[in-house]
Amino acid sequence: QGAMAEKILVTGGAGYIGSHCVLELLEAGYVPVVIDNFHNAIRGSEELPESLRRVQEIVHRPVLFQELDITDEAALQELFGKHRFSAVMHFAGLKAVGESVQKPLEYYRVNLTGTIRLLETMKAHGVRNIVFSSSATVYGDPKYLPLDEKHPVGGCTNPYGKSKFFIEEMIQDVCKAERDWNAVLLRYFNPIGAHESGMIGEDPQGIPNNLMPYVAQVAVGRREFLSVFGNDYKTDDGTGASQGGWNFGFPNPWLHPRLTLCVPAGVRDYIHVVDLAKGHIAALKKLKENCGCKIYNLGTGTGYSVLQMVRAMEKASGREIKYRITARREGDVASCYADPALAERELGWKAAFGLDKMCKGIPSLAQQALPPPPSSLTSLLPVPGEDLWRWQLQNPTGF
Ligand code: NAD
Ligand code: UD1
Repeated sequence: QGAMAEKILVTGGAGYIGSHCVLELLEAGYVPVVIDNFHNAIRGSEELPESLRRVQEIVHRPVLFQELDITDEAALQELFGKHRFSAVMHFAGLKAVGESVQKPLEYYRVNLTGTIRLLETMKAHGVRNIVFSSSATVYGDPKYLPLDEKHPVGGCTNPYGKSKFFIEEMIQDVCKAERDWNAVLLRYFNPIGAHESGMIGEDPQGIPNNLMPYVAQVAVGRREFLSVFGNDYKTDDGTGASQGGWNFGFPNPWLHPRLTLCVPAGVRDYIHVVDLAKGHIAALKKLKENCGCKIYNLGTGTGYSVLQMVRAMEKASGREIKYRITARREGDVASCYADPALAERELGWKAAFGLDKMCKGIPSLAQQALPPPPSSLTSLLPVPGEDLWRWQLQNPTGF
């Protein structure tokens, strides 16, 4: 039966990224077994979390689920006694940067203690393959761009980021000490978008911390306007263009017409969540090569400013997105985008969905007098903005 019968434990698999990975696992013929404690997932009307009930509906295959807290060692032991896992995908954890500054112990307890319990249980049951959700946050303030995996790590300013760095170190130490362990540490850049069905997506509780869920909520009318955190970022040559991901000449075709005098705010590498999920399937295959501990960036290699993202979402939704420029957010870096070449070389994985495709339809300043391209050109493309908009429109208040 080969890969068809492989059982994969997915911790935190009811969450945003986890649920998209469960879907990809099912599509690829694996048998995912999901655990989640509902800290940041919606229960829904059936035994399954709502996200997974919908995954089942999309894929027409059953999802195995158990409510379980990763800090509960006895429950983990029992679970590993029931199933024979070939690998673990570890998503479960707390992820709000601001909250982690307020509640550092909670973040260290769940993220660090939870991971230690998981690794110990894996060891006890002879499961030695893990894919871990790390983050570009481990790079801290970039010393150069694009960020490759050799960039120094550990310069994190908040407990959330530190917990990702500590876990990376811990897993690397385990792999060094015991040669039969294999681990792939995936450093995500900025995951956005949703499955093209519009049935699952990111459903932040309360006020969204991250840009695109906030932008989507403004587009759908749940919030009045976006606060753009600062427009005074230093750039390489003072023109507003930074290196690497910014390829435009002058006039800048991306600059928002309503803000022609401002330099771009916060440049990030936004990656479609479905691309990200496919990266996890590639990582599972890598584990099969007895790879030891490997680390890969999952990003597109292209950076976009906040206002480019606003523009892209306006295009996808056909609605104006109101915004106001406010003070910079403490701890924000000006620019952060990946060098994704290593993942392409060693995992055979590359992000397929880019904003560039979607934005082809956005007229440059020089072209604005021309009629817009046919909407069919952009509507066929599976792009983050469109998928995000579909999800938001079909689920204006979330799950
Ligand atoms: P999410 O909050 O949607 O998913 C995490 C899931 O883990 C939730 O369903 C939550 O209920 C569950 N969970 C939390 N504590 C748990 C516990 N003690 N036991 C069992 N389950 C628990 O977050 P996400 O965006 O899907 O992120 C998944 C992983 O990827 C996290 O580790 C996160 O730090 C990491 N990551 C996310 C991003 C991002 O922008 N979303 C970026 C980089 C890294
Ligand atoms: C955030 C996290 C980071 C995590 C990453 C991936 C913080 C401080 N950092 O970073 O640890 O790894 O997400 O998901 O939370 N912005 C606005 N207005 C808003 C929200 C955001 O202008 O309402 C700007 C930000 O200043 C930034 C950009 O949008 O320039 C992206 O912000 P966000 O989505 O929070 O991602 P990161 O800052 O990359």
